[in-house]
Amino acid sequence: KAKIAILISGSGSNMAALLYHSKLPNCPYEIVMVGSNKPDAGGLSIAAAEGISIFAHPHKGMTREAHDQIMHDAVIKSGADYIILAGYMRILSAQFVQKWDGRMLNIHPSLLPKYKGLHTHQRAIDAGDKFGGVSVHLVTAELDDGPILGQCKVAILPDDNAESLAKRILFAEHQLYPHIVCEYVSRFQNPKYLLDKVRALALALPQSH
Ligand code: GAR
Repeated sequence: KAKIAILISGSGSNMAALLYHSKLPNCPYEIVMVGSNKPDAGGLSIAAAEGISIFAHPHKGMTREAHDQIMHDAVIKSGADYIILAGYMRILSAQFVQKWDGRMLNIHPSLLPKYKGLHTHQRAIDAGDKFGGVSVHLVTAELDDGPILGQCKVAILPDDNAESLAKRILFAEHQLYPHIVCEYVSRFQNPKYLLDKVRALALALPQSH
């Protein structure tokens, strides 16, 4: 099984969804650690009660790079192959992102590329959008910008406010994230993924004429 570390800053409901999914038969990943920059993040006690090792280190009073290095060391120590960001509300340093290139996923509550950053639900309502939603993407140095691995659209109701919409989108997040994490960690078994890789390699080869 692929070993994943989950980083959270808040209630950790996506972490819980990933955790309960990992208990289903044939799930291709296991959670080896849950980490946080907030020692009182609700999700930490859920993970601990489930027997998962937890790690917390506040970010106050140190540089971004120093804090990222502490989190990186803890993740390495856990033996994780992947980092899954689940409401980890920290902008990551370029060095950290580079170290986990292609092995770090994030969930963002909008239909990217729309509404990067904060207040996504209010911005979708203010724009008069008919749909909001959620995206899972690979993390790159640019905020909320990496290749999109999957999305789920959620209809906006006429009387929705940011809170009611966020609540419904969260249901979609809990379905989408475990699904995409499973797909991504199993990608080497996916013929389409392999075919795409072979095609990309062939295109990169020097032409003989
Ligand atoms: C989720 O809605 C997630 O999409 C969002 O934070 C929430 C965390 O909830 N993430 C971001 O906004 C990242 N830019 P949770 O702690 O209950 O999983």
